Amino acid sequence: MQWFAQAPSNIALIKYMGKTDADKNIPANASLSYTLDKLITSVSLESIPGKESRWEPLETPGISTFRLSSHAISRFLAHLEFLKKKMGYQGAFIVRSNNNFPTGSGLASSASSFAALTKVATRALCELTQKESPSQAELASLSRVGSGSSCRSFFSPWCLWDKDTIKEVELPYTKLIHQVIILSHEEKKISSSKAHELVKSSSNYYQRTARAAENLKQLLAALSSKNWVAAFEICWQEFHDMHRLFETAKEPFTYMSEQSKALLHLLQKQWHETGDGPVVTMDAGPNVHLLYRMEQADDAERFKHNHLVGHYDVL
Ligand code: DP6
Repeated sequence: MQWFAQAPSNIALIKYMGKTDADKNIPANASLSYTLDKLITSVSLESIPGKESRWEPLETPGISTFRLSSHAISRFLAHLEFLKKKMGYQGAFIVRSNNNFPTGSGLASSASSFAALTKVATRALCELTQKESPSQAELASLSRVGSGSSCRSFFSPWCLWDKDTIKEVELPYTKLIHQVIILSHEEKKISSSKAHELVKSSSNYYQRTARAAENLKQLLAALSSKNWVAAFEICWQEFHDMHRLFETAKEPFTYMSEQSKALLHLLQKQWHETGDGPVVTMDAGPNVHLLYRMEQADDAERFKHNHLVGHYDVL
């Protein structure tokens, strides 16, 4: 028997960074994300005899074979084991997966991967054990245990995640234009999971929860009242706050490359000159994410054409 599901990625504007419970991925602060419907992971499951599941790439004709590191495969299969245990099933599966965004683009795929795996596995396990399907909120909570940020991929376009509550929030900007500028194709040396641990040693960490809560309150107010300038300013401050935690950890680390800095400088200059622009954010990586309002479609194309094409990969 075979099952198949897909799930999108998401980008946090208020960041999940730091956990109060690392086993269950309970975040130290609430986060807010916009779901990236075009960046998708597909996962299929095939039940096989025996007890040991294994991972394979999900092949798409004409597209180069998707690869996962052995650590990522173990993490993925461990989540499947967690779901099997939850649902009281002992059989094995071949798990096949791929992303519709280029392998090695440096784009984190754990959000879409764990969301898609949780979806397909619960579907298969409910069918095999004749249990009722979990609600969307229950699915999100199960997915959170695999990788925290994946729980936000269950609600679109905006998702608010606070401790063990994950829900959709209604905001006026229901459709935005997303561009991500790929500044590194390499797998990052320090994973997000590791970063969650390391930031705790930063002298800036002790008030991080309060700062994130204040940023969230202000961002929700700005987005609700369609104050785009304020939304830009809060998001700018927020991702810099997270990156400062990395840079002030006991053993400092950074994802900010010279290219990221130059690009941020250019975006800031453009905002100062025109009074408008995209909301800018960065995750635990060097890539820069831009979100434009729909009516800025021409501006988005112009910026891409004038400054990005020929220099960087843009998705
Ligand atoms: C910087 O969800 O990747 O992207 O729960 O350990 O799997 P684990 O961490 P992960 O952390 C994402 C951190 C972030 C910010 C965010 O997405 O909120």
